[in-house]
Amino acid sequence: MAAYNTLSAAALAELKSKLETAYRNEQSLGLKLDMSRGKPCAEQLDLSMGMLDALSSADILDTETGTDTRNYGLLEGIPEARRMFAELLGVSAAEVFVGGNSSLNLMYDTVARAMQFGTMENEAPWNRQGTIKFLCPVPGYDRHFAVTQTFGIEMIPVPMSPTGPDMDMVEDYVNHDPSIKGIWCVPKYSNPDGYTYSDETVRRFASLKPAARDFRIFWDNAYCIHDLTDTPDHLLNLMDECKKRGTEDMVYMFASTSKITFSGAGVAAMAMSVKNMAWAKKFLTMQTIGFDKINQLRHIRFFRDMDGIRAHMQKHRAIIYPRFELVWKTLEQELGGLGIADWTHPNGGYFISLNVLPGCAKRVVALCKEAGVVLTGAGASFPYGIDPNDTNIRIAPTYPTLEELAKAAEVLCLCVKLAAVEKLLEQKQAA
Ligand SMILES: Cc1ncc(COP(=O)(O)O)c(C=O)c1O
Repeated sequence: MAAYNTLSAAALAELKSKLETAYRNEQSLGLKLDMSRGKPCAEQLDLSMGMLDALSSADILDTETGTDTRNYGLLEGIPEARRMFAELLGVSAAEVFVGGNSSLNLMYDTVARAMQFGTMENEAPWNRQGTIKFLCPVPGYDRHFAVTQTFGIEMIPVPMSPTGPDMDMVEDYVNHDPSIKGIWCVPKYSNPDGYTYSDETVRRFASLKPAARDFRIFWDNAYCIHDLTDTPDHLLNLMDECKKRGTEDMVYMFASTSKITFSGAGVAAMAMSVKNMAWAKKFLTMQTIGFDKINQLRHIRFFRDMDGIRAHMQKHRAIIYPRFELVWKTLEQELGGLGIADWTHPNGGYFISLNVLPGCAKRVVALCKEAGVVLTGAGASFPYGIDPNDTNIRIAPTYPTLEELAKAAEVLCLCVKLAAVEKLLEQKQAA
């Protein structure tokens, strides 16, 4: 099929009528499919069931410290868990704080702490500094944006590219505007594009000279070990680069086992300079007497070491790669060469980013919904839910079964075509 923008109005009208018939057929099937959230499927969760048997009633002592994991104590986590996250994040164990089951929770609390108490001794709380702002690489993770929006922090979109955020823009804002207090980053297999920041991008982050002393990089390495291919991306270690330049206080790192073991019952951690950690702990001690150490120990016993985690991630890959492949194949077969969409091919992570013709994303999502296929809301990957070009759609292929995914991807492509034909006809009629 020729590219849609080469078709005459008559050809487009004929195509539209054919697509509408096909769409009505799909609607009549009464589908109920969901490609909206980046959740592991049941098969993936089953991979970690052995974790529930990894601890016995005779094995609840943390062998290194002799701490009874059932009791209070070890606010920053058991040493083995701190070391595990230190390896995952490429930092020292002293820089790691192991929390509860959610890294998003740690991020929310970190923003809340800075808002209420500031980022360090002698730094004013963010909420007493007038209008403050965060840079938000777009498209990005909707829940990051929801956190900053909840606290009334103004959000400034920064375009993403395959090498990371537009660093000219980041430097311009951060180095000159003291109201810029933070930036959200998913540096490896970004949500939703699946891009990994290049070495140069990481070095430029480490070399920032913020106008605000209390500026912080929120480095959410949620997909640090979530490779899908034999040619995984490599992410330069930001903390190392910062240490070389004496800028390590600028960084907060986060990760969790949500997409490794159980999304609802994993373990999360954050890493920061010893100075930042001392400040954070001053308030964390007020917030809790300690997180769930039994779950930390269970994870340690289950994996034993990093090789154990890597081997486990290979099993995830075997389950989810075919799902990604199926979506890519369908997109290529149905939309390739039509000039109405492009999509990403990440080497890892949880998402595929689909870009449709400007002004069509909302329409595609609505058409899908009416045909029984739920997608993430158009615009969700942008601050305030506003995608200025209305082009981006996040595809989450992990949760549905292959059969469901095959149908959902087929319906999605049909809706992309229909929305594109509608838009092109509208433009022809207006010309
Ligand atoms: C980039 C990113 N960060 C954090 C999370 C949530 O992590 P957690 O379950 O540890 O709160 C997600 C979940 O989809 C994510 O995509």
